[in-house]
Amino acid sequence: MERREFLRVSLGAVIGLPVVASVLNSCETDVNKAQDKVVVVDISPYPALNTVGGLAFVQVDNYSFILRRASQNTIAAFSAVCPHQGCLIGDQMGELHNHKLRCMCHGAEFDPQTGAVTQGPATTGLTQYRNEFDPQSKTVKIYV
Ligand code: FES
Repeated sequence: MERREFLRVSLGAVIGLPVVASVLNSCETDVNKAQDKVVVVDISPYPALNTVGGLAFVQVDNYSFILRRASQNTIAAFSAVCPHQGCLIGDQMGELHNHKLRCMCHGAEFDPQTGAVTQGPATTGLTQYRNEFDPQSKTVKIYV
């Protein structure tokens, strides 16, 4: 049992506060694990995503994503909302600056492979969403 899971179970059981488990759950930041909504993206209109390493800024259903073709069979999906103050990143590919995604509002930069922040003022990386990519239908199901 991982430490976080142990704390979640033991503190929740001993103290009886569901709030404790809720707070610990909110600490998981690597990949968004919420699965209450799926956004389906057809990548056909984004030719950059036909090439491994290609990037596209995609807006669907009030969500803004930066998609990256990570391999022939995988897509990395990040939120395009800057974690600093909420500007959108990537709506102009000119924002790819020295191989980094750059937020034009205050200059924060992010690694397009991982979403990690590489230059402030942002202090956290881009939210990454779990997804399922079907290369044959060219659709990505993004769990937001
Ligand atoms: S909102 Fe992106 S750097 Fe400030």
